[in-house]
Amino acid sequence: MLDKLFKKKDIAAILREASQSNGGLKRNLTATNLVTLGIGAIVGAGIFVITGQAAAEYAGPALTISFIISAVACVLAGLCYSEFAAMIPVSGSVYSYSYATMGELLAWFIGWTLVLEYLFACSSVAVGWSGYMLSLFDSWGISLPPQIAQSTFYYDNGVWGWTGSLLNLPAVFIVAVVWALLMGGIKQSAAINNVIVIIKISVILLFIGFGLSHIDTSNYTPYIPANTGEAGHFGWSGILRGAGIVFFAFLGFDALSTAAQETRNPQRDMPRGILISLLVCAVLYMLVTTVLTGIVRYDELSVPAPIALAIDRAEGLTWLSPLIKLGAIAGLSSVILVMSLGQSRIYYAIAKDGLLPPVLARVNPRTGIPQNATILASCATGIIAGLFPLQVLNELVSIGTLLAFTIVCVSVVILRRTRPELNRPFKTPFSPYLPLLGAAICVIQMIFLPGAAWVRLIGWTIIGLVIYFLYGIKHSHLR
Ligand code: ALA
Repeated sequence: MLDKLFKKKDIAAILREASQSNGGLKRNLTATNLVTLGIGAIVGAGIFVITGQAAAEYAGPALTISFIISAVACVLAGLCYSEFAAMIPVSGSVYSYSYATMGELLAWFIGWTLVLEYLFACSSVAVGWSGYMLSLFDSWGISLPPQIAQSTFYYDNGVWGWTGSLLNLPAVFIVAVVWALLMGGIKQSAAINNVIVIIKISVILLFIGFGLSHIDTSNYTPYIPANTGEAGHFGWSGILRGAGIVFFAFLGFDALSTAAQETRNPQRDMPRGILISLLVCAVLYMLVTTVLTGIVRYDELSVPAPIALAIDRAEGLTWLSPLIKLGAIAGLSSVILVMSLGQSRIYYAIAKDGLLPPVLARVNPRTGIPQNATILASCATGIIAGLFPLQVLNELVSIGTLLAFTIVCVSVVILRRTRPELNRPFKTPFSPYLPLLGAAICVIQMIFLPGAAWVRLIGWTIIGLVIYFLYGIKHSHLR
């Protein structure tokens, strides 16, 4: 029994399956598409929404250091992702890599964790989108009835309750719009994403460019506010907790690897797409945080739209405020787009192996996309986004993703030992040291996340194991 649970899929078989008619998927993406898809997936609620709360509650102006720590962890994980994505360029991403390195049960566990990451990341970004949209409506004097303008449930200090709202309608609306775009095929999705990326990067550059001259350096004192006596609230432990929270802002580069089977030259372009998009975003984030905490004192930043707040505070820049809101709204939409794409490709890859129902592996011959998996991804996202509040969603995303990254880093080391002969078009430098350092930083960030996130991760894992033992184990093609 145990050896069956840990049975590994042969890498040659994975590659053969992918090369035979490419599973019906179409290879449309170029290196430039990958970089813009990467930026499209990365820049979103993390920088436009969460930065303010992380500075106000955990790290103060030293949030820039949290961003550096998180960026290092992501670049290390990005190198490991690049090695795998170039070596095994299939839609399943870490799920497929771990099927080859650690066997079926762990692969399922990782696939399920990836579903958690993409599903909850999309949902929380949709909730962030709704917040920005409502604030824009507000500035135009339009307000939606509260019954359809906030999440159904709230969570406060460990207590769940009903907000009195039916659902967060704007959040469901944007998920539906993205679904309609995705159904048109990956080429159309990539083209729309390109336009959105240009808008959001322009807005961020405007904020940095105009904001720099409005920095009041006294806001940087104290740079590392003293710890309040509670771990994770300011001081160095606060910087580490801040790193775990803003880690969310970097997510999305990994979703790129799920598009490997739809990329023209994945061996060459996947590492480029992953690493360039990650580095561009890391630099932008550090600059934005420095400007943000320089314009507004950190303890005033716990608001849903911190960048818009900074613009309102900077004299003579109010004209930028609606542009920032529009940029954020556009930016968040592309995160939902690419993350939904990633989510659907994970369902597709798992279903192809028989661990989920085969209808999810069906590809529409005209558009070349896994249509049913796309519908499932959007429905699941719409339901979660309509019901739950932002903070609960993104803490869960961070812990799940940190776990996935840890496994990717460790898998690189395992596969280098067990299958040294495999063709690796891209190699993570200084292995095993860099991958192990990447894994260690991820584990440290996980440790500093709130206990409630751990409880939810365990709950999610239990649901996954029930599905595997009730369905996957009986239908696995490998058996
Ligand atoms: N990195 C994405 C965001 O910040 C998930 O919205």
